[in-house]
Amino acid sequence: MKEIFPSPPPIVRNEFESVRELFSKNVVPSYGRFDLAFTHGAGSYLFDVVGKKYLDLGAGIAVCCLGHAHPAITDALVEQSKKLIHVSNLYFTEPQGRLAAELAKRVGAGKVFFANSGAEANEGLFKLARKFGHDEGRFEVLTATNSFHGRTMAAIAATGQDKVKKGFEPMTPGFRHIPFNDLEAARNAISPATVAIMIEGVQGEGGVTPAASEYLLGLRALCDEKKLLLLMDGVQCGHFRTGKFQSFQRILENVPGGEKFLPDGLSMAKSLGGGFPIGAFWVRAPFADLLGPGTHATTFGGTPLACAVALKILEVIEREQLDSNARKLGEWMKSELERLAKNYPSVVKSARGLGLMLGLELAEKIPAFASSDKSAAIQFTNRLHAAGVLVIPAGTQVIRLLPPLNLKPQEAGEGISKIEEVIKSLA
Ligand SMILES: Cc1ncc(COP(=O)(O)O)c(C=O)c1O
Repeated sequence: MKEIFPSPPPIVRNEFESVRELFSKNVVPSYGRFDLAFTHGAGSYLFDVVGKKYLDLGAGIAVCCLGHAHPAITDALVEQSKKLIHVSNLYFTEPQGRLAAELAKRVGAGKVFFANSGAEANEGLFKLARKFGHDEGRFEVLTATNSFHGRTMAAIAATGQDKVKKGFEPMTPGFRHIPFNDLEAARNAISPATVAIMIEGVQGEGGVTPAASEYLLGLRALCDEKKLLLLMDGVQCGHFRTGKFQSFQRILENVPGGEKFLPDGLSMAKSLGGGFPIGAFWVRAPFADLLGPGTHATTFGGTPLACAVALKILEVIEREQLDSNARKLGEWMKSELERLAKNYPSVVKSARGLGLMLGLELAEKIPAFASSDKSAAIQFTNRLHAAGVLVIPAGTQVIRLLPPLNLKPQEAGEGISKIEEVIKSLA
């Protein structure tokens, strides 16, 4: 009789190296990646290919708002995919209509267009602005220095950072940059061609800088006076991250006149789908029908699957009051980061942010970083990786904390103590 041998055990290899090799041979190298490859996650934790556990305070750059492998997201995906994944926007589907209603309910009277990413949501707003000004020959959008609006051709022209434009010139015309939080500069920059101003409520990639309440109210009055659209990019700072649905609602709470504030257009993505790709823009009622049939479209925008997931995420966030968790835990974490800035000025210059969108600005010259040509933000992030914590660099000097909105107090404490350990080792 033929003997049946059990199959030999798999050859033990360094799995990270094999994954990296697949990338170096096959994936366009447009990203600077960290030397980490992940296999799975659970809640606020991620596990890499060699089984090391990480506390994820980056949440996929403000995306995984319910953490990893959340059963409500899995259930929504499974249930909806059993019924209908996609039919195209040639037809109506209930989840898209319901999600539009839920988003508009939380922002203000208006309508919603669905896209697939943040850059694409912003592209839609740029088209809205062009359509708005078209018959008067107005087309120019003013955006802020240090802003980030995405990587498509119009979005890099809109982004107020040279590094994203380099090598891709000439830029798409019709964008000019103004200093952030400077109302007078905005007024002075308006030309006869200007049609809109776009800002982030809290600049993310630019280093976690919230807009001042007077700036928001001033821009609203200025846009009304000059007949400009006020557009807000809520891709990173939106979806309850600051403790309210949108950052402007948080920035303007308890500010006289703040309750009446609304932008004319607002982009969303990232946490909207909790990791499932979906983007959207909301447009205020007077302008909601500007983009009529045939003017704007995308095959995958607002599929029943994406919308079912986004609806479930809204339900979980509100049922579990994760907005107030973001506010409370965020305030505690910020006070802890401020304590670290005070106690270790040779390593930390300042701490800032709103809710669970926090930035830690590193000191200019940290001696331990001098021998490497990598930025302080990258070197600090690498040390945190070694300590089992993921954060996101923003520019060369800032690290961002953008954890899941359902982060637990004990996890926040673990994160702060590991950050403190790394800071101490550098002091
Ligand atoms: C404020 C802001 N806008 C737009 C984008 C672009 O979004 P996406 O990468 O989904 O295109 C980002 C991404 O980081 C962002 O932070």
